[in-house]
Amino acid sequence: MSAPKKLFIKTYGCQMNVYDSERMAEALGGEGYVETKSPDDADMILLNTCHIREKAAEKVYSELGRFKGLKAEKPDLKIGVAGCVAQAEGQEIMRRQPLVDLVVGPQSYHRLPEMEAKARTGEKVLDTDFPEEDKFEKLKNRPKAKRGPTAFLTVQEGCDKFCAFCVVPYTRGAEVSRPADRILREAQDLVERGVREITLLGQNVNAYHGAGPNGDMTLAQLIWELDKVDGLERIRFTTSHPNDMQDDLIEAHGTCAKLMPYLHLPVQAGSDKILKRMNRAHTAESYLRLIERIRAARPDILISGDFIVGFPEETEEDFQATLDLVEEVKYGTAYSFKYSTRPGTPAAERAQVDPAAADDRLQRLQALLTKQQREVQDSMVGRDVTVLFEKAGRFPGQMVGKSDYLHAIHVADCDRAIGDLARVRILSSGANSLAGALIEK
Ligand code: 5AD
Ligand code: SF4
Repeated sequence: MSAPKKLFIKTYGCQMNVYDSERMAEALGGEGYVETKSPDDADMILLNTCHIREKAAEKVYSELGRFKGLKAEKPDLKIGVAGCVAQAEGQEIMRRQPLVDLVVGPQSYHRLPEMEAKARTGEKVLDTDFPEEDKFEKLKNRPKAKRGPTAFLTVQEGCDKFCAFCVVPYTRGAEVSRPADRILREAQDLVERGVREITLLGQNVNAYHGAGPNGDMTLAQLIWELDKVDGLERIRFTTSHPNDMQDDLIEAHGTCAKLMPYLHLPVQAGSDKILKRMNRAHTAESYLRLIERIRAARPDILISGDFIVGFPEETEEDFQATLDLVEEVKYGTAYSFKYSTRPGTPAAERAQVDPAAADDRLQRLQALLTKQQREVQDSMVGRDVTVLFEKAGRFPGQMVGKSDYLHAIHVADCDRAIGDLARVRILSSGANSLAGALIEK
C-alpha cells in the first residue's frame, strides 16, 4: 500500500467552518487522506475561508501567496479554497491566484472526492452550486474515531434575514433546516465516540424548523429530543436572532437541565434608526424586553452579543444608544466589530462613517464590554459551578474545563479525566479565566 496522502486544512471564521472542515477531512479521509498539522508536508492544502468582513477575505489571498514556494518545490501539491470566499469570489480567486487548483463553495463539500480526483488530472475545478441534497448526509462515511468531550453539530444553514451589512444570505444561501432524525443520529454517534457536550450550529439557529415525525419541529422541540440522549450532558446552540426567540425556547432555558445557561443573542446596535437601516426588524426596546423574559425564565443566564459600530449614517447619538443598551443588558461576553463594507450588500451603497470616528467608537464600546465581561466573570468567585474537563492544564495535576456559563476554569490538584463533569468552587478570577477547586475529592 502506498503512504497515505496528507491533507492540511486551515479554518477561518465561525464555528460552522470548524464543523465543515471536520466533514471535509472525513470526506477526503475516504480517499486515503490523513490530516497533517503543517502545510509543508501536505499533498493537498485547503483554506476554509470567511467572507464576513473585508479583512477576513484579504487574509486568504495573502495566505495563498505564501504557498508559492511550496508549490514550486512540489508540483503535485493541490491547493483548494473552500468556504464563503470561495462562494462569493470563486472565478475571481482562480483568476487572481493561479496557484489554486480547486474552489468549492459551502454547499458542495460532498462533491470534494470527485473534485479532488479531477484536480489530480491537472484540471482546474470550481463548484459553487446550491444543490438540493443534504450535503452532510452525503458526507457520512466517517471513521468511528474517538472524539473530545465537546462537538459542534450543524442543524440549520443559511439565512433569510438579509441584514443590510451581511453577506451570509448570499454566501450560505437561503435558510435550510436539517431533518431531526439525522441530527439525532449524528448526536447519538458523537456521544458513542466520547462527546458530552454538543453545540447546535446555525447562522439562524433558533429559526430551526426541520422535519420531525409529526411535522416541522422547533429548536426547543429538537433540544427536548436531544435531552433524552443518554450520555449527552450539555446542549448549547448558536447563533440566534432576537426575532426567532420563541416562547418554547425561552421556557426550555428554565426547564431543560441539559440546556446550558448561556445565550448568544446579537443585537448589533442600540439605536432604532440604525437597527431599521440594518433591516434588523427589532427595536432596542423589544430586544430589552426579550432579555427580561429570558432572564425571568433563567435568572442566571449569561448573555452574549455581537455589535457593529460605524454602520453607515451612525451618529454619535446613535452610538450612545448602543452604549446605553449595553449598560442595561450587562453582557457576559461580546464580540464587536467596525462596520466593513461588503460589496453586493445594500449598506455598501450608503454614505460611510469617518473611519477615525468608527475606530474611536469601537475602542469605547470594547472598553465597556471588557469591563462588563470582567465584572460578570468576577461575580462567579465564591460560587459553585459544574465543569466539563476538556484538557490537562499547564501545571502537573491541573485540569482545564468550561463551566455551564462557558467560562474557562482551571482546577489544581484535580484527579478527574478529560470528559468528566465535577462540581467546582470558584476561588479567584484572572484575566481570561477562573480558578477553582473540586468540591468533592
Ligand atoms: N461588518 C462588520 N461586522 C459584520 N458582521 C457581519 N457582517 C459585518 C460587516 N459587514 C458581524 C455581525 C455578526 C457577526 C458574525 O459579524 O455582528 O453578528
Ligand atoms: Fe447575517 Fe445574522 Fe443578519 Fe442573517 S441574521 S443576515 S446571518 S447578521
